[in-house]
Amino acid sequence: MRKKIVAGNWKLNKNLEEGLSLASEIINIAKDELHNQAILVINPPFIHLSSLQKLIPQNTNIRLGSQNCYHQKSGAFTGEISAEMLKSVGVQYTIVGHSERREYFNETAEQLAQKVKLLLEVGITPIFCCGESLSIRESGSHLAFVAQQITDSLFDLSVEDIQKIVIAYEPIWAIGTGKTASSAQAQEMHAYLRNHLAQKYSQEIAQNISILYGGSCNPQNAKELFACADIDGGLIGGASLKSRDFITIAQSF
Ligand code: PGA
Repeated sequence: MRKKIVAGNWKLNKNLEEGLSLASEIINIAKDELHNQAILVINPPFIHLSSLQKLIPQNTNIRLGSQNCYHQKSGAFTGEISAEMLKSVGVQYTIVGHSERREYFNETAEQLAQKVKLLLEVGITPIFCCGESLSIRESGSHLAFVAQQITDSLFDLSVEDIQKIVIAYEPIWAIGTGKTASSAQAQEMHAYLRNHLAQKYSQEIAQNISILYGGSCNPQNAKELFACADIDGGLIGGASLKSRDFITIAQSF
């Protein structure tokens, strides 16, 4: 059975005090009102990880995540954060290859493959992001384009390791725009990607990999998206900054 996951990507938002208060609200509301099996992942800026780790109680479905890591293990890379460092402060999930990082920081498919490998080595679950731009969708090549992103960064993984990955499909034209993919568009892509994984690995393995949808997912549209056969949850940006909205999304399975 694949996991149901709702991950909040805080991006470059919230100072420490605001972050602690948002996380406390999420933890408290989830304790009282979230009774399904969904795993909630909170991905704050790096600098808040240690403080938030102390807030998250044991034996809950709430996990700590980061938004990125560096693609080298250690060394003279001023300002960077390694997978091993993240592990040492309690990180369990890391977002890899968000479209903002691919675009603004020129992250390449090879670097993303390296990040995934380093994260798996220390036992952190990568949330691997993929997704097409509007022009690619309009050209009709979106299915092949996104499948190729998965081939390029994930298909060197062993049968054991591919099953430790979470994939997040995020059409770039839907991120932060308020323009969600329709549930039919999202389901079509998710089913296509699952089939792509099945062809490389096996049907059984593909059925075990959680594929999340991201891009203007909110309390109003989450139910319809999560009801799709191949959508296993969401990667949430804007709506993860409001505790009530984030939990309502997590209640939408
Ligand atoms: P959004 O962001 O929910 O604000 O569209 C999603 C993301 O970038 O992960």
